[in-house]
Amino acid sequence: MKKFSHVIVRRPCRAMVEGITSGEYPGKPDYDLALKQHDDYIEALKKCQVDVTILPADERYPDSCFVEDPAVITKNCAIITNPGAPSRNGEKEEITGAVRKFFSDEDIERIEAPGTLEGGDVMMVGDHFYVGLSARTNEEGIRQFKEILEKHGMTCSQVPLEKVLHLKTGVNYLEDGNMLVSGEFVTKEEFQKYNLVEIPEEEAYAANCIWVNDTVIVPEGYPAVLEAVKKLGYRTLTVDTSEYRKLDGGLSCLSLRF
Ligand code: GLY
Repeated sequence: MKKFSHVIVRRPCRAMVEGITSGEYPGKPDYDLALKQHDDYIEALKKCQVDVTILPADERYPDSCFVEDPAVITKNCAIITNPGAPSRNGEKEEITGAVRKFFSDEDIERIEAPGTLEGGDVMMVGDHFYVGLSARTNEEGIRQFKEILEKHGMTCSQVPLEKVLHLKTGVNYLEDGNMLVSGEFVTKEEFQKYNLVEIPEEEAYAANCIWVNDTVIVPEGYPAVLEAVKKLGYRTLTVDTSEYRKLDGGLSCLSLRF
């Protein structure tokens, strides 16, 4: 099934070595290796029947390669978010120009302060969106997001987070009813109706896979997750994201897919 035609990415900047990190995966990113991994990521996406818009690096924002956070793109509208991390908030202005190439002004919505929301907290399942209530996304952000979705014929529900940075750090939908879950999300009542694939604790990082037109891109180095995704019947590609993992970033954070 072809669902996505476009992908937007932003090249990592040199300042990424100063990006926000929880320290869960220690060490500073190696910038040259991060660039190579980004090249590989773009090549993998190009194998998935999408065109890829590559935005230039922006040295003002160390985390700006994680382009999923300042916007959420749905089939009916684009929503420019209001990132809750102060050092990332300005990224919302920079993504707007890229989004304008695909949406007219009346279909570009915005989350406004005091609401905050980051796209990493948003998981799309058809016309329904699960949104994580997190350190980055607050109740008011979710209230505005819900109002916008309803205006455009879509729905939304809130999922409180306990431990992880973003919702999609620990749970990702792969279409066809299949959902990868790790840690705190394994027992969440609202996800029990899906075919849950439980990710072992030692491979928890790889819960963050992306489905792109029936191919699933899996982070390199997680054999149990790769095997589980293959068993679901998907074509798989792997990309090493070790340098982004040091900043708590993963495959989904690095692109907008629509
Ligand atoms: N380093 C990614 C983030 O914290 O937003």
